[in-house]
Order: sequence, then structure tokens, then C-alpha cells
Amino acid sequence: MQETSPSRTAEVVCLFRALEQRREAAARILDDPYAHLFLGRSTTAALRAAMAAGPLAELPERFLPGLSAFVLARHRFMDDALARALARTGDERVQQLVVLGAGYDTRAWRFAEALAGRPVFEIDFPSTSKRKDDIATKTARSLPGTVVRRVQVDFLRETFEEPLVRAGFVRGAATFVVWEGVSMYLTRAAVKATLGLVRTLCAPGTELVLDCWFLLDAPDLRAAAHRFSANLLHLLGEPVLFGIHPEDVGAFLAREGFALIDLADAAALTQRYVRDQRSVYPANFVVHARSAA
Ligand SMILES: C[S@@+](CC[C@H](N)C(=O)[O-])C[C@H]1O[C@@H](n2cnc3c(N)ncnc32)[C@H](O)[C@@H]1O
Repeated sequence: MQETSPSRTAEVVCLFRALEQRREAAARILDDPYAHLFLGRSTTAALRAAMAAGPLAELPERFLPGLSAFVLARHRFMDDALARALARTGDERVQQLVVLGAGYDTRAWRFAEALAGRPVFEIDFPSTSKRKDDIATKTARSLPGTVVRRVQVDFLRETFEEPLVRAGFVRGAATFVVWEGVSMYLTRAAVKATLGLVRTLCAPGTELVLDCWFLLDAPDLRAAAHRFSANLLHLLGEPVLFGIHPEDVGAFLAREGFALIDLADAAALTQRYVRDQRSVYPANFVVHARSAA
């Protein structure tokens, strides 16, 4: 992907998180009270329309069945893994959080208390990163205090090692790494290079959460629609490039030096997090892994 302007997919998933706030707390897959701050003009209009007229809120579901529930459930899966990791003490204490392709991820604020001053390094393309920085500065009074450093890098063209260290990242320290909604936009070589960097830059035992896309191979129309819809992302300037089947991801990660801890596909995400009738997009899954000692 050639970066020209702030990521649109980052804003769309942020809209999904903002829209979730209009549901009753008990029905929410996820709670993100800050997502709305990062919406642009058109996504804010979509949010207002949804708030004003109940049925409109279901529009994303009509056009992209299951996508918003998947985006929310993957975020929740990662949140739960992060919460457990941040609670560890002693030798297992996580020292820093890295968010690769951070977009408008608000964990630096939502987890401010659990982080207790531990730094969050958010890596993204310059334009998305700068837009987020500007909004965070303008809305600082609505956000809890936290330590966040933004690092501007194109994963396809450069390595993030030096800029990350310049931003204060401690090499070899126990780290939790979030890589959400990004692997599918990278080449296989870039995915492997990123995994390699995470493994060499962070302490052995570092935990990583990521989601992956795969080609549904059912011959029915629904699977064909999913295959087609992934290609449509090309029109947003963010084509889907990397896919891996859930059956193969454990061996792939093992070759790159990571052991699989947990994997949740659409069925598992639905069972764990969805409390209403929503379906979860079936062509993605989420994994939690740990780098080998
Ligand atoms: C779908 S968004 C996900 C954003 C965020 N992780 C979330 O889940 O809310 C994908 C993000 O990856 C970033 N991204 C995609 N390709 C990238 C690359 N080659 N280098 C740096 N960032 C990239 C985009 O700018 C965007 O912010």
C-alpha cells in the first residue's frame, strides 16, 4: 500500500468501536469511550445518524455482515490478553507496550491505570500517526494521563528498530505487542520481517496478539462474497495481500520463533464475546502467541 493520506480502514474500525457505545453496557462486545474523538467529518456524521435513529445503527451490519462484530471481538480478545499480561508482577512484569499499525487504537488511555506509567509505543504511517497526534493534543483534557510515543514508519519499506529505540523503547525488555488489523495489508516478506524484529528486539517470552485473514474455500455464494469483499478494499487503497489459514498459523509462527497460546476463529469469538444475535465475519481469526525463550 502506498500511503497518501490517513488510513481510512483505521477510521472505519474506530467508527465500529464508537458505534458500540450506543448499545446497553451488557450487550457491548467492547467498551471504548474515546473512539469517537478520532472520527473525521464523514464518520462523525455516520455516528450521529446512528445515535439519532436506531435502525441506522445497523447499517454497517447490512453492508458488511459480521465485519463490525469481528472488529469488536478481535479488539476484546486482545484487550483481555493485554489485561492479563499487565497484571503480572515480579520477573514476568511487562515493561512496555508496542502497538504496530496503531491507527486510532485508544488502549494507551483505556489501560492508563493498568499501565501505571509504562510506555506505549504506537507505530504507523506518518499521516495517520500525525493526525492522531493532533487530535490527542486537541482533546487532551478528555483523555487520562498516559505515556505514549508515536513512531512513524512504513513497514513495507523501512525497519522500525531504530526509530523505536530513539523513541525510548528498551531493547530486550519484556514487552506486549499488539498487531491488530495489519498483517493482511502486508506482503508475506514484511509479515515475516516484522515477526523477526519483534522476536529480536523484545525479551524472550514476549507476547504478541494479531489477527489474520484467510481465503474461505467453501463453494457457496456467501464465501464467494467474502472473497470478493476482501478485494474491494483495494478501492480504499488498502488491498489485502497476506492470508494464512487457521490450521497453518501455528506452524508458520513456530518457524518465526513464536509458540501459539490461543486462537479464536469466528465461532470461538462469537461464543466468548457476542451476547446478542450478531454474526462474526468468518474469514478472519485472532491469535495470541509468545516468543520462544
Ligand atoms: C485496519 S487499520 C487498524 C488500526 C488499529 N490497529 C485498530 O485496530 O484500530 C490498519 C492500520 O495499519 C496501518 N498500516 C497498514 N500498512 C502499513 C504499513 N505498511 N506501515 C505502517 N502502517 C501500516 C494503517 O495506517 C492503519 O492505521
